[in-house]
Amino acid sequence: MSDEKRNEPGRQLKVALLPGDGVGPEVTVEARKVVAQLDLDIAWTELPWGSAYWHEHGTMMSADAIDVLRQHDAVLMGAVGDPSVPDPEALWGLILKIRQELDLGLNVRPARLLAGVPCPLGGRGPEDVDMVFVRENTEGEYSGVGGRTHRGHASEVGIDTTVFTRFGCERAIRYAFRLARERDGVLVNATKSNASRYAFTFWDDVVDAVGADFPDVRVERVLVDALCARLILNPGSVDVVVASNLFGDILTDLAAALQGGMGMAASANIGLDLGPGLFEPVHGSAPDIAGRGWANPSGAIWSAALMLEHLGLCSEAAVVTRALEAVCLSGPRTRDLGGDAGTTDIGDAVAAEVERLLSEGSLSSVTTPSILI
Ligand code: NAD
Ligand code: IPM
Ligand code: MN
Repeated sequence: MSDEKRNEPGRQLKVALLPGDGVGPEVTVEARKVVAQLDLDIAWTELPWGSAYWHEHGTMMSADAIDVLRQHDAVLMGAVGDPSVPDPEALWGLILKIRQELDLGLNVRPARLLAGVPCPLGGRGPEDVDMVFVRENTEGEYSGVGGRTHRGHASEVGIDTTVFTRFGCERAIRYAFRLARERDGVLVNATKSNASRYAFTFWDDVVDAVGADFPDVRVERVLVDALCARLILNPGSVDVVVASNLFGDILTDLAAALQGGMGMAASANIGLDLGPGLFEPVHGSAPDIAGRGWANPSGAIWSAALMLEHLGLCSEAAVVTRALEAVCLSGPRTRDLGGDAGTTDIGDAVAAEVERLLSEGSLSSVTTPSILI
C-alpha cells in the first residue's frame, strides 16, 4: 500500500489529529510527540470532534467533517465514546461514519507480542504471538442496514442486516492473500458458514475465488468460535487472518490481550485509493481510567508508525517501531503491563529513543517487515 505518490519529496504532509474522548487525547499527544521527534515537515490540524462537541453542537463532528478529512494525507485518532452520549450515536456519528464515507474498506491490525511485554498466557513469548488481522471494515455486520419499529409494543422488532458485497469482501480478502504471500504463506479464513447459510457461504466462495490467484498461499477455513479457542491454546499456529467486520472486531480484542493488553494494539484503517487513511489504537476511550494519566500510549504510538509507513515514510516508521520495542524491553512500563509509569513517561521514553536512534544514523539502516503492502 505504500506509495511514493503519498510522499513526494519536499511536500509538506497534512495530518488531521482527532484525539476524541476519554484516554484518546492522552495517548494521541504522546504519539504526536514521538512523530515530532522525527523532524518531518508535517502540518497538524487538531479537530475538536467527539462527545464534548456533541454536547455543544448536537452532532459528533462538523457538517463538513468528511471534506475536511479528505483534505489531509492521514488521520491520527485516539478513541470515541463517552458514558454521557448514547454509544450508537457517538460511534455512527464519528468513527463508523468516517470508515464508510472515506471508504476505508480495510482494517489492518498487527498483533505482535513485543519482547519485555508480559503475555497473559503462561509460557508464551514473542515467538508465539505474531499475527496480522485483515478486517473488512465498511460492511458485513456493520453495514448500517436495518431498523427498529413498533417500539414499546409486544411486536417490537430490531433488525441489523449483514450485508456482504463481492466488492467489499474481495478487497479485504485479496489484501489478506497478498499479505499472507509475503509472510508465512498461510491464510486463516475466519468464517461461520456452518450456521450462516447465505452471508458466510458467500464469503467463503469469495475466498476460494480469490485464492485461485494465489496458488502459493494455503487457506485454512476455520470456524470463528474454534479460532477463538485456538488463539488461546496455540497462538503460534496463526499468522494472517482475514475476517468479516464483526468477527475481526472481536478477534482483535482477544489478540490485543495476547500481545499484552488493549493499550498495546494498533490499527490502520485504509482504502485502496490515495485518500487519507485513519490510524488509531484498537482500544476505546477507556472511561474507567480516563483522566488519570495511566493509559498505555503504545498502541497509539504504533498506530502513528503505521501512518508513517502508509505515507511512504518507511524508515521513519521503522525507527518509531524500533524505539517502541526498546522501551517495551527495558521500561518504563504502565500499570497494565505491571509497571508504575504514567502515559507521559512512555511517550517521553519512546521519543528519547527515537532521538538516540536518529543520532546514531539509524534512519537509513533500520527496517521492519511491512504489514501495509
Ligand atoms: P476500552 O477499549 O475503552 O476498554 C476496555 C478495557 O481496556 C478497560 O479496562 C480499559 O481501562 C482498558 N484499556 C483501554 N485502553 C487502554 C490503554 N491505552 N491503556 C491501558 N488500559 C486500557 O473498551 P470499552 O470499555 O468496551 O469501551 C469504552 C468506550 O469506547 C465505549 O464507548 C466504546 O464504544 C468505545 N470504543 C471506541 C473505540 C474507538 O474509538 N475506536 C474502540 C473501542 C471502544
Ligand atoms: C474498534 C471498535 C469499533 C468497532 C467501535 C468503536 C464501533 O470497537 O475499532 O475495534 O467495533 O469497529
Ligand atoms: Mn473493537
